[in-house]
Amino acid sequence: MTRTHPRTLALVLLALLALLGALVVHAADPSGREDATAALGTGAGGTAGDTEPISATILIDRGGLTGGYATPRVTISQDGQLSVLNRDTYAHTVTSEATDASGRPLFDVVVGPGETRAVPGATGLAAGDYGIYCRFHPNMRGTLTVVGGSGGTHGDKQKFVLPLAVPPTVRDAHVRLDMRQADVRMLPDGRRTRAWTYGGSWPGPTIRRPAGERTLVTVANHLPPRAGSMSMHLHGDHHASRHDGQPTSYLVPRGHSRTYRYDLTDNGRPEPGSFFWYHDHRMDHTARNNWMGLQGMFIVDDPREKRIGLPRGARDVPLMISDRSFTRHNQLTGLHEPDMVMDMGHDGMDGMDGMDGMGYTGPHAPPNDASVGTQILVNGRFAPHLRTEAVHYRLRLLNSSAFSSYELTLSDGRPFVQIGTGDGLLPEPVVRQSILLGPSQRADVVVDFHGEVGKNVVLKTVPRTDSETGTGSRVGELMQFRVRSKAPDRSSVPDRLPTPRLVDPPSDISMTWTFSLEGDETNGTFWAINGQAYDPDRIDHTVTLGSTEAWLLRNTSEVTHYVHLHEEQWRTVSRDGQPPPPWEQGLEDTWRLDPGEEVVVAARFTDHTGPFMVHCHMLDHEDHGMMATFEVVR
Ligand code: C2O
Ligand code: CU
Ligand code: CU
Repeated sequence: MTRTHPRTLALVLLALLALLGALVVHAADPSGREDATAALGTGAGGTAGDTEPISATILIDRGGLTGGYATPRVTISQDGQLSVLNRDTYAHTVTSEATDASGRPLFDVVVGPGETRAVPGATGLAAGDYGIYCRFHPNMRGTLTVVGGSGGTHGDKQKFVLPLAVPPTVRDAHVRLDMRQADVRMLPDGRRTRAWTYGGSWPGPTIRRPAGERTLVTVANHLPPRAGSMSMHLHGDHHASRHDGQPTSYLVPRGHSRTYRYDLTDNGRPEPGSFFWYHDHRMDHTARNNWMGLQGMFIVDDPREKRIGLPRGARDVPLMISDRSFTRHNQLTGLHEPDMVMDMGHDGMDGMDGMDGMGYTGPHAPPNDASVGTQILVNGRFAPHLRTEAVHYRLRLLNSSAFSSYELTLSDGRPFVQIGTGDGLLPEPVVRQSILLGPSQRADVVVDFHGEVGKNVVLKTVPRTDSETGTGSRVGELMQFRVRSKAPDRSSVPDRLPTPRLVDPPSDISMTWTFSLEGDETNGTFWAINGQAYDPDRIDHTVTLGSTEAWLLRNTSEVTHYVHLHEEQWRTVSRDGQPPPPWEQGLEDTWRLDPGEEVVVAARFTDHTGPFMVHCHMLDHEDHGMMATFEVVR
């Protein structure tokens, strides 16, 4: 609205010129990687006294998904224009790593297949280098260099203003949770954020129960009308089919409640000590309902763990990591469903408007893919801090994001000692410099702050480096530990841990689940398992109660998936034909599958008959077809 007509014309012209330059560069250099500015020729010179702005275009070629930006390094002048041209069949973003004090990127633009977009936020920045990445595929990275005079912002350093919120712990045998709208403190400044919650907070209360003790959870639906019916799933747990949070049956309509029953036993024995989480699982709306805040943590305590002296009480901290985007009035952006924008101020994020009606998986894919947030929150707050003592802490790390994955590491190079997955302890502790967690994956770790009084240690996410083909991980600072006092510490991590028993895997594979993108550019694409989109009326595989089966999970698509199997806790038999890495040698329920990967898992089917889900836990993939059903029968 501040743009004058001639300025718009000039911008268009510049963008066109830049585009032409980029195309020429690309044609001349089949590798596609080139410093765009060097060859661009627009704004020729940029010598002192030359007032001609320098503009540049970031080119995304076909295959950019795996190949990255075709022009990963571009330079503009402070008054120049940055543009993005996307010739891939997937939507991508160009997002700055640098942010303002609330974590909003300095610029963030979504570019659909075939589109060209300007990046207005890149104009007027302070001179210097800015890391850029694609929020949807963070393996796509590059650098924007801004040259020119003085002034402009570099972005803000994270200040870790808010204290970490530790959700209330509930230990009752019968827990009652009201699903209701509530205003929650998520960002350090300005208004609270309206969310859909379990019990008024996001995350909801942490339910903490002894293994083997029956637990009832009654949820009542008091959400606004547009929320519709809900369905709650206790992720990782073993329970009856009707208590599983089925996507289309046993729902919780508005004004009604439902009681879920979890015995916390398996085959007559108490379950292993676990770090589960509960979340909505409603068909077609799982991404939206989780984005809105219907998520909480659930810890199953194994009495044997007490004896081995792991950190306890205030030194056992569950951390839920989840990304969200906010409007300028601190309200959650609407996942591209206009009626979902809860803030009626006309202040959408830069670029968010570009997502309306646009596909992420191809030109005709469903419109609301890629629920990726610009800000990464811990226990529902942006960049919180926790005051700690110089002792061991047990951190239970959960990625409850709908789509993003994180390669977690500590700022001073301090290792994590991983002691468990979400489904029990590992046979031995594993020392890890960084831990990759995809959606719904958990890691149970111990961190040692001894001798560090006065120090601040930041939990960060860095680009993953373990795969050439995998979709990357996000970059950012998540939270800060402020080590402030000495204290006695009797905790320890033994060399051997009481790990749950693993099944002997059968030598034959009973079922292969193949995760792929199907369809074509004319008729539309969809996410599929074994070539088919989810159909709640179809049973894809039948298992006999009491049998042990080995399943093969394989990914033939171009992006990484995080595949979740309901009902049982599974042993990982092999990953790409090799024994699994040490941190995958306990029980699991969600596996990373990079493009081309094959993972064999095995479990014994005990106690319960009925239908259960198999799906990708990237919730947009799940909502858009990548789900299937197996049924356990007598
Ligand atoms: Cu965490 Cu089927 O879900
Ligand atoms: Cu991308
Ligand atoms: Cu997926």
